[in-house]
Amino acid sequence: MTILVTGAAGFIGANFVLDWLAQSDETVVNLDKLTYAGNQESLASLNGDARHIFVQGDIGDSALLASLLAQHQPRAVINFAAESHVDRSIHSPEDFIQTNIVGTFRLLEAVRAYWGALDAEAKTAFRFLHVSTDEVYGSLAKNEPAFTEEHRYEPNSPYSASKAASDHLVRAYHHTYGLPVLTTNCSNNYGPYHFPEKLIPLMIVNAQAGKPLPVYGDGQQIRDWLYVKDHCSAIRRVLEAGNVGEVYNVGGWNEMPNLDIVHKVCSLLDELKPRLDGKPYKEQISYVTDRPGHDRRYAIDARKIEQQLGWKPAETFESGIRKTVQWYLDNPDWVANVQSGSYREWVAKQYSAGIPA
Ligand code: NAD
Ligand code: DAU
Repeated sequence: MTILVTGAAGFIGANFVLDWLAQSDETVVNLDKLTYAGNQESLASLNGDARHIFVQGDIGDSALLASLLAQHQPRAVINFAAESHVDRSIHSPEDFIQTNIVGTFRLLEAVRAYWGALDAEAKTAFRFLHVSTDEVYGSLAKNEPAFTEEHRYEPNSPYSASKAASDHLVRAYHHTYGLPVLTTNCSNNYGPYHFPEKLIPLMIVNAQAGKPLPVYGDGQQIRDWLYVKDHCSAIRRVLEAGNVGEVYNVGGWNEMPNLDIVHKVCSLLDELKPRLDGKPYKEQISYVTDRPGHDRRYAIDARKIEQQLGWKPAETFESGIRKTVQWYLDNPDWVANVQSGSYREWVAKQYSAGIPA
């Protein structure tokens, strides 16, 4: 048996493949374009492992998709591939439209053709799992209840709008063509192999480099944080037992303001790798201009996946963030290698003079 996983040289996809092959011998075909966010080094421990077949390519390449599906005959396709960074979507939305909308559409078309030609048994067993985000639901006021699967779609950034469009296409392919789809909408992930353009790894990396820790606006925006391996276990569970055509929200019941997250990272670094001058890392915090259209609060109601599929996160935020900070301290080479020329160009553009452009 084989699964086809897209975008699995990225943060969550790489963690997913590593966890999958730690628990199963089912082959993974990994289709990844290797954008700035894709990093084969995250999968270096699988070098020479015949269960992992890496293919560099675009989910928008219909001919490549058709040939990969015909060759490997996967029983499932899991779509992680996306442009994923909100700030980049504000600077340059085009790539988000191409990959997240057009790419998902081409992938759905290729999968529909492949699935339509399967024999009855394989057709019934087949699944297309689309990995999406809580950001499609928009922003919550302080006392509003958390997002359920029935919450209206109200995306506010080019990123979340492009993910919302992809979710709608996935839904339509089920309703119109009967494609056996599943969709997960997850909150903010953190953990190993997270690209240091995102809040938590950026803070860990900047703190150690003696650089400012840029907090947007008042730092009181709230996110729900989930350790990446818990997201991976949720996806495995939905793939295994989710009801076809349904959506599952995934979250950690762990809402925290950004400033509290940054303080937590600083205090862990104070403990695990104190500054040479003995001062606390929080002295490096620097308030910068807010993200345009910044969503104030996300919160996930994860009762459906917990009650119907019996999934629960294994990590608390305390245990997960400690593991994460320790992982970055233990893997300076991975960090150094992802901070390439293009990474430095992005940081200069986004934080020029300490202020997002
Ligand atoms: P990431 O940016 O770290 O990785 C994305 C991967 O997709 C990269 O390896 C990149 O090379 C690849 N890719 C981009 N365009 C491609 C294309 N056209 N064809 C093939 N591959 C392509 O993203 P991530 O944080 O790992 O997120 C993975 C998925 O999970 C995304 O769909 C994202 O929307 C969703 N998600 C992320 C989070 C989070 O907190 N990071 C939370 C919820 C949902
Ligand atoms: O909610 C799920 C989403 O979480 C995913 O769909 C996205 O792919 C993922 O990137 C993430 O989006 P966010 O915008 O929430 O993540 P980010 O790490 O970019 O920012 C987290 C919060 O921290 C957000 O409120 C903005 C703030 N922030 C971020 C950066 C990079 C700062 O204050 N300073 C920063 O330098």
